[in-house]
Amino acid sequence: AKLLVLHGPNLNLLGTREPEVYGRMSLAQIDAYLAQLAQKAGHELASFQSNAEHELVDRIQAAREDGTRFIVINPAAYTHTSVAMRDALAAVGIPFIEVHLSNPHAREPFRHTSYFSDLAVGVIAGFGADSYRYALDAALARLD
Ligand code: DQA
Repeated sequence: AKLLVLHGPNLNLLGTREPEVYGRMSLAQIDAYLAQLAQKAGHELASFQSNAEHELVDRIQAAREDGTRFIVINPAAYTHTSVAMRDALAAVGIPFIEVHLSNPHAREPFRHTSYFSDLAVGVIAGFGADSYRYALDAALARLD
């Protein structure tokens, strides 16, 4: 089946961006690793990153047309702001898991709210790049 991993703003800087918070793996490394895991399980993983809210909304809408069965999403800063991305996920009705590298609940109060968590199948946060791996694992288990 087709799966999609979505990365929000500033995640293109992974590896160099506050490495003590977000780790040293680059986004390309994370995406390659996830694609390999999905492939080994007999599935297909596409990935998309954007700093622009409307591009993320457009990609979520496109997921309905391209037959995506499951989404893993790190909305990054849009976690705490984006009604538009939340509405897009609700509109397409594709199950998704919310992911964060850091644990937003251990950080500033403005990171404690998410526009996504109550719609998500589940939320995985605080395990660095491994958060994505655990989320993909959970998504793959739900496809079988
Ligand atoms: C993040 C947490 C957000 O609060 C922050 O704005 C990010 C990354 C994470 O993966 O830990 O950009 O989603």
